[in-house]
Amino acid sequence: MSKLGGPPRTTRHRRQGLYDAQCCAVDGRLPPWNSLCRELPLEPQRLTNTRLPTLVFKTSVDASKYVAVAIAELIRRNNARGKPTVLGLATGATPVGLYAELVRMHREEGLDFSRVITFNLDEYYPMSPTDPHSYHEFMRVHLFEHVNIPRENVHIPDGNIPLERVESYCREYEQLIREAGGIDIQVLGIGRTGHIAFNEPGSPRSSRTRLVTLDPLTRHDAAQAFFGEENVPARALTMGVGTILDARKIFIIAFGERKASIVQRACEELPTEAVTASFLQEHHDATFILDEPAASKLSARLRPWELGSIHWTDSLIRQAVIWLSLKVRKGLLQLDDDDFRENGLFELLREYGPAQDLGERVFQDRLSTLVTHPAGRDSKTILVFSPHPDDDVISMGGTMIRLVEQGHKVHVAYMTSGNIAVFDYDALRFVDFVESYNREFGISPSQTTQLANQIRQSLQLKEPGQPDCREVLEIKRLIRETEARAAALVCGIPPEQLEFMNLKFYQTGKREKLPVQPEDYDAIMGLLQRLKPAQIYVAGEESDPHGTHRVCADAIYTCVRKLWQQGQQFEVWLYRGAWEEWEPHEIDRAVPISPADLERKKLAIFRHQSQKDRAMFPGGSDRREFWQRAEERNKSTAATYDALGLPEFFALEGFVRWRG
Ligand code: F6R
Repeated sequence: MSKLGGPPRTTRHRRQGLYDAQCCAVDGRLPPWNSLCRELPLEPQRLTNTRLPTLVFKTSVDASKYVAVAIAELIRRNNARGKPTVLGLATGATPVGLYAELVRMHREEGLDFSRVITFNLDEYYPMSPTDPHSYHEFMRVHLFEHVNIPRENVHIPDGNIPLERVESYCREYEQLIREAGGIDIQVLGIGRTGHIAFNEPGSPRSSRTRLVTLDPLTRHDAAQAFFGEENVPARALTMGVGTILDARKIFIIAFGERKASIVQRACEELPTEAVTASFLQEHHDATFILDEPAASKLSARLRPWELGSIHWTDSLIRQAVIWLSLKVRKGLLQLDDDDFRENGLFELLREYGPAQDLGERVFQDRLSTLVTHPAGRDSKTILVFSPHPDDDVISMGGTMIRLVEQGHKVHVAYMTSGNIAVFDYDALRFVDFVESYNREFGISPSQTTQLANQIRQSLQLKEPGQPDCREVLEIKRLIRETEARAAALVCGIPPEQLEFMNLKFYQTGKREKLPVQPEDYDAIMGLLQRLKPAQIYVAGEESDPHGTHRVCADAIYTCVRKLWQQGQQFEVWLYRGAWEEWEPHEIDRAVPISPADLERKKLAIFRHQSQKDRAMFPGGSDRREFWQRAEERNKSTAATYDALGLPEFFALEGFVRWRG
């Protein structure tokens, strides 16, 4: 380990002075994409109109593998010449799949890291290297513990350095990079502030390694890992923009729709200190590596017709005509040829016009999405999968109310307990309640008090951001289950139609979860086979690959594919999670929600009291409560349909059909 840091030494890591390749990830096994990587095709779309090279991959797995292959090729080439390879490394959710693939290459293909030298971008300040939140710990768990990088080749800024030493320490860090011959490949993520490393907006292009103050949005995003924004350190040691730009080759990676807006600014706007990632446009070999959701706000995706001649599919025609209608503020049936011509849609007009035909075509199509009886008129069994115990009512509470009233038997499967999102004070209040209740009714008062004291003590002793003990996690799980039962009742769904699956992958008590476990797949399969639903509803989130919604959806898709192959037929409908809504051209079904239904839906959301007023994980920078977002989102979908000249509704819930 270099004098500047590196993962902590333990006997487990000391075998032959190398990091032990046999040690396991957080959970004792490697993530499942490891085995998938070998099979998946790697065909990125190369965008031509961005201000720096941009590759868009179908999935984050493909994208991670692409970068891993580039790194592995360089390591092999350098190894053959007896030369070192210097890597600049990032932490965070984004590179987790990349590191897993490098570990797989080491284990299965013998990729030799013994000549690799690494420099990490940053570390929180202050931060002990042994703290579970430290980037030292992150790197140990995800990479260094599994590959044979000599520990003296590992450099991670030391968050323990005394304040008065920081300046000289940072200079030494830069010096070490230079002595190593400079960085060959730099891996970067991008924060939602546009930061690279912790170079927040305002960081000069020439900045070097230094101590910085974190942006409130960055601390907000890190709050989940630290169980509350107040526990996130206010500062960090970080390489500068100039340090990063000195690297010979740079990959900047972004996954998930939450990154889409900032990716668009970094790729398409002029370089500016307001988005430090945009400075990469001035580098001779920097490439953006994106998955589809992260690329979704690039003009190549939003308005591909502006880039030249395209093949007009049904869905592109729909996208273009809806875009035009909203842009010129005219209903679909009011569009004329000039609207198309003046807005760059000549080709569409020429191939599929006149305007009247195009408007009518899309009008009829959108009209057909409006459905008041989403499961038809005969009574059916419906299964709603809810990743956490409130996503069901937030995202499709109105439709659930409709389905029940239309005589369908609606079941809800809560896939995870959602217990890490309950505040300690809520758990304590319930401990107090149970203790008083048992005392009042003479139910084993001494045993109750003993347990209550034990729980109070464990919460008191807990360091900020540390996981809860088993009993507290169970109490928090029960709180969310009782809330879910109360909320479902508001929608007319009795407790016996609720399933609390408590899937194992979620049961870590931490933000980092396990990979989906075999018993989780069995539970989903078993439920689908037992209930034989005619329709299922799934949170079709396009979040980053580690988001619980995305993990739950992928696990369901795997099971559905299997069951379809076995001949069990049912429809799969996707609702959007609590944070986003489908674009108007994506919606396959829109269910009208009356004012009375919307009020009832809000009452159901209110029943999730532990998530009201101030949710632990509200998602993004949106400070509105979940019921407010749900109401505004449903009303806004109705307003969009109205603007397109379709029938006017009070509110609409939108769904997309999943066909495998
Ligand atoms: C981490 C780092 C940060 C992250 C960025 C994205 O070492 O320097 O710039 O790359 O905040 O984080 P994730 O990947 O968690 O979205």
